[in-house]
Amino acid sequence: MNPTTSDAEVAAERLAEFYEPVADEMRLVESRLRKEMQSRYPFVDELVRYGCMLGGKRLRPALLLLTAKACGEVREEHIVLATVLEMIHTATLVHDDVLDRAEQRRRLATVNSRWDNEASILLGDFLFSHAFFLASTTGDAFACREIGLSTNRVCEGEIRQKGSRGQYDLAEDEYLDIIDAKTAELCACACHLGAHYAGATADVVEQMTHFGRELGIAFQIADDLLDLYGNEDDIGKSLGTDLDQRLLTLPTIYTLRESTVEDRGRLLSAMQEESPELHSLLFDAFSRYDAVAYTRRRGDEYVAKAIRRLSPLSDSPAKSVLDRIARFVVDRSF
Ligand code: IPE
Ligand code: IPE
Ligand code: MG
Ligand code: MG
Repeated sequence: MNPTTSDAEVAAERLAEFYEPVADEMRLVESRLRKEMQSRYPFVDELVRYGCMLGGKRLRPALLLLTAKACGEVREEHIVLATVLEMIHTATLVHDDVLDRAEQRRRLATVNSRWDNEASILLGDFLFSHAFFLASTTGDAFACREIGLSTNRVCEGEIRQKGSRGQYDLAEDEYLDIIDAKTAELCACACHLGAHYAGATADVVEQMTHFGRELGIAFQIADDLLDLYGNEDDIGKSLGTDLDQRLLTLPTIYTLRESTVEDRGRLLSAMQEESPELHSLLFDAFSRYDAVAYTRRRGDEYVAKAIRRLSPLSDSPAKSVLDRIARFVVDRSF
């Protein structure tokens, strides 16, 4: 690799390698997104293009298309629904950046920092409503129902997480249930739709839905670790927002659970008082209690579970890439 290659280019090359079995279909999704995200009103057009054309990893469309290819053939419905899921995902990010007061997303200023919270709310609404309109063009109520249910769970997850701010006794199971809803649900939905519209058997559809969910949980566990230890230049988004918003993620939940009465007391007081010492106390406790190793282990367990779900599929390039993506989600810096 060229030594002057930027972080963004390294990321793009790595993803292109993963998405190779569905490269043509990913291009169709990209041009569909471009076609749908327009308006004849100049300000709407500017906002909508900015919001949707920011280059994300496009993981959910890729999961949908790769699952389709691993189970059978990619059809027109897959292209439309992969586009729909990326719009829904983007809407949740635009709103999430308001909640987290984030300034950077996908290497650019967030909509809330470039414009304001009002623009973010309205752009999110536009993306959600357009996504459901587009899903309805398949003429199949099944797709609309599944996507509606999943989107509803994602929103519930974000609302539950907001409700958990400052909840310092949050249990690991509750944390896992929230990330299952806010993140894993849409990955599960992607794999479900991919398998269903490829004509997979009910059993394979079920296994692939579990695959997406377990991969999604591992993805968010790793994302929360990156929020504490990642590098903003590599990942291209604001970090440190969980602690700023008094949200507990796995390293903190584990450390509070495992620490001595004195350590826990010290940490809880620092959290409640929002002490300037909190950061250093917490990172010191993470290292004494091996919180990062524990968090990685939990992420790896979900990856291993996800990979076992692929066993009913016959060998193919798409299947082997799904296996590699599952390993990648916990081993990424972007
Ligand atoms: C970010 O998702 C939000 C989480 C669920 C952690 P991605 O990391 O897939 O975001 P983009 O689409 O690549 O920007
Ligand atoms: C992801 O949560 C938001 C959704 C899944 C809707 P985070 O707040 O952890 O994601 P990032 O870190 O901002 O991408
Ligand atoms: Mg966020
Ligand atoms: Mg995060």
